[in-house]
Amino acid sequence: MKIGMAYDLKEDVALSAGQPEDALEEYDCLETVQAIATALEFLGHVVVMLGGGKDFLINILQNNVDFVFNIAEGRGKYRSREAQVPAILEMLNMPYSGADPQCLTICLDKPLTKKLVAEASILTPAWQVISDIKELKGIVWDSFPFPAFVKPAYEGSSKGIRFSSRVESPKEIPGAVETVLEKYGQPAMLEEFIPGDEVTVGIVGTPPQILGIMRVLPRQGCDPNFIYSLEVKREWEKLVSYECPARLPPKTMQDIAEASLKAFKVLGCRDVARIDFRVDTQRKPYLLEVNPLPGLRPGYSDLPIMAQEMGYEYKTVIGLILNSALRRQNLPCLGVTTQPY
Ligand SMILES: Nc1ncnc2c1ncn2[C@@H]1O[C@H](COP(=O)(O)OP(=O)(O)O)[C@@H](O)[C@H]1O
Ligand SMILES: [Mg+2]
Repeated sequence: MKIGMAYDLKEDVALSAGQPEDALEEYDCLETVQAIATALEFLGHVVVMLGGGKDFLINILQNNVDFVFNIAEGRGKYRSREAQVPAILEMLNMPYSGADPQCLTICLDKPLTKKLVAEASILTPAWQVISDIKELKGIVWDSFPFPAFVKPAYEGSSKGIRFSSRVESPKEIPGAVETVLEKYGQPAMLEEFIPGDEVTVGIVGTPPQILGIMRVLPRQGCDPNFIYSLEVKREWEKLVSYECPARLPPKTMQDIAEASLKAFKVLGCRDVARIDFRVDTQRKPYLLEVNPLPGLRPGYSDLPIMAQEMGYEYKTVIGLILNSALRRQNLPCLGVTTQPY
């Protein structure tokens, strides 16, 4: 099969004046694209690099590909940016891997995701969206649980997530909210801070299966107030260790798996997703967010690290995602399967 790859490289996107220093954090590096291409070639396919943005538009029309492996994050600050490439592929009636435009758009919008999962009885921390600093005057914080956490409403890749995102009391809210509104040009979401374990869950396949449930542990010792921030992620080798499968009680693991598979279904995810949770001191898992386009950088992104800990080679994970997409669309695929968790 001739497979086109859609992706956005950091070096292809210009950082404009006034943007925060983490503005390009979600974009990929060439190493990731090459690792995926090598895995696809290993599975017997021919790979064509389509890139992202305008290059993608030109390349998808000029190259006669049969299928697109999509990891493109999209361009601009738009909350629907991840839907750009899949929307074009649907317009061209071209099969592709991963979630559709609607799912990608919903999941980048954290408050909307939380509304939908809460509706499905999945636990998620209490939240409040602030779109304008003037709105703060009308909000009474008496019943809102503190400490709280302030983050951009439509971001991922730890953009806008810092140690300073945690606020201890209502008087710290205006400063933290203003930073998000100004630096990220979008609403801020205030969320109840859940002290406890940091857990992320990988899901792959059609039908979806749990790839792994991984706990992220600070190296300096157990800390219920640990934040998996951009600072930590960038220096993960020094600051965190990964435990997969997480050594949590069987009932907690079952609750996390059930909530993950339910969220995957409710939000309309396909082929792959990574779902982040905090597990509180009562062992209750709270869903933080759903990533239908999880990072795939070998040895760096959570999903490949988790897969490695579970004994899957990188190329097997790519094969599982690809074959899930092919099977879903009744296209011929090679026989890579997941082992039951
Ligand atoms: N409500 C919260 N309670 C405790 N920690 C949180 C909360 N929200 C975010 N965090 C911390 O910040 C990290 C990143 O938040 P997340 O919502 O997953 O954003 P991103 O899309 O950038 O990954 C989490 O993995 C967690 O460590
Ligand atoms: Mg996250």
